[in-house]
Amino acid sequence: MRKISVIGVGYVGLVTAACFSDLGNTVIALDVDEKRIAGLKRGEMPIYEPGLKELVQRNVNAGRLVFTTSYQDALKDSEFVFICVGTPSAVDGDADLKYVEAAAKSIAENMQAPLIVINKSTVPVGTGDWVAEIITEAQSKPIDFWVVSCPEFLREGSAIADFMSPHRTVLGSLHREAADKVAQLHLPLRAPIVITDLRTAEMIKYASNAFLATKISFINEIADICESLGADVKEVAAGMGFDPRIGKHFLEAGLGYGGSCFPKDVKALAFMAEEMGHEPRVLNSVMTVNSLRRGMMVNRLKNMAGDLNGKTIGLLGLAFKWNTDDMRDAPSVDIAEALSKEGARVRAFDPVAMDAAKEILPKVEMAKDAYELAEGADALIVVTEWNEFKNLDLERLRDSMRQPLILDGRNIYLPEQMRRLGFTYQGIGRGYNGIKTEIEVRPNAA
Ligand code: UDX
Ligand code: UDX
Repeated sequence: MRKISVIGVGYVGLVTAACFSDLGNTVIALDVDEKRIAGLKRGEMPIYEPGLKELVQRNVNAGRLVFTTSYQDALKDSEFVFICVGTPSAVDGDADLKYVEAAAKSIAENMQAPLIVINKSTVPVGTGDWVAEIITEAQSKPIDFWVVSCPEFLREGSAIADFMSPHRTVLGSLHREAADKVAQLHLPLRAPIVITDLRTAEMIKYASNAFLATKISFINEIADICESLGADVKEVAAGMGFDPRIGKHFLEAGLGYGGSCFPKDVKALAFMAEEMGHEPRVLNSVMTVNSLRRGMMVNRLKNMAGDLNGKTIGLLGLAFKWNTDDMRDAPSVDIAEALSKEGARVRAFDPVAMDAAKEILPKVEMAKDAYELAEGADALIVVTEWNEFKNLDLERLRDSMRQPLILDGRNIYLPEQMRRLGFTYQGIGRGYNGIKTEIEVRPNAA
């Protein structure tokens, strides 16, 4: 059992604090947002993450997890402090580290004993060294500390599972004994622990996210080519995925990546490259392909439905992906704005993200469910792949729409079935060569 402090209780910090407390550690989590901390003390979650509320509740009740806004209280008797504050994109694409700087300064000013300072937030290569300088500068008297990079690999919507069953834990530090102590914290997770230097650990995070984003832009480009050539990208991806060098994950063509990580991390990595005089050609292409997806969807809809002026369009889903309320860089925002510009009346339903979306999309009318959304609609666009959209009563949907037209941005429906039901239907990359047979995979296991 160790004493751990967590600074910043957002999507990453709150999951980190709750999970470390669930592993038996004593965790004190700080945030500068007093409303957020007050809410947490009342058992209110500031974010939607499946399973988080009960995980927090259980550990608060067990006395292993407490919340505070005081750095003095947060750091008292702690051996470790995780920095989990946001690192949003600055205008030029670089990561904005003002929150990391504020947290490092407050740690320096309030630490009372030797401390291992761990960067969990995604930070540009070299930030660990910079955090060490800040702390040394800001300390009123020298107290030993060691900086360790421990990047997060949490997907929103499955963050607890990703924390508790990671593919690997990555640790970087100039001090091996500090890295060893942080490694001890992660032993119960039973996953390989990669221990390297600070900059390499910081780069592993960026290179991992940039590679995943590259896979997505790659399959989106393949999808567009499939459409023209009459191939079905879902089945192309299935056939590709059997090759372990490719892998079957992250080959879902759609609206392109969004969220609080991939867009900012690819941009930040490209920025770092350019700062060093390298032209990030692949990363720039990944961003270009991604940036065209949302506009492409609106053009596609115009091709299907004609002039959108005065038409009612329903968005099935608003969050940037399923199982989250996070609207950061969500495709729905660009799509809704583009539709409004075309004079369309935009309505939407999302099982979880509508409250978060209301502030960002004040003109979008919120429906109470998918069926109410469909009433009188000239078209529906599948924007977020919520499970509850996958088994809707499609006849009921069709009969209540003004036009039975669906543009499926997440390929959650079967083109053949939609045609049989009389929908004007388009997915992404679902090339159609007239006779469609379902893909078949015969195990034929050796
Ligand atoms: C995290 C990581 O920080 C980011 O690098 C990663 O790429 C995405 O996930 P996230 O948890 O999503 O960011 O950030 P956010 O949900 O915005 O939460 C950050 C929290 O830190 C907020 O609650 C904010 O109030 C708090 N904060 C911010 C502090 O406690 N102190 C500060 O000085 C600034
Ligand atoms: C991602 C990384 O997966 C995680 O390891 C990192 O720590 C944070 O960033 P997250 O952004 O929460 O996690 O969700 P993820 O499931 O990775 O999806 C990212 C984006 O890519 C979403 O917009 C999603 O819709 C999109 N995506 C994902 C695709 O378009 N196709 C895919 O096959 C997979």
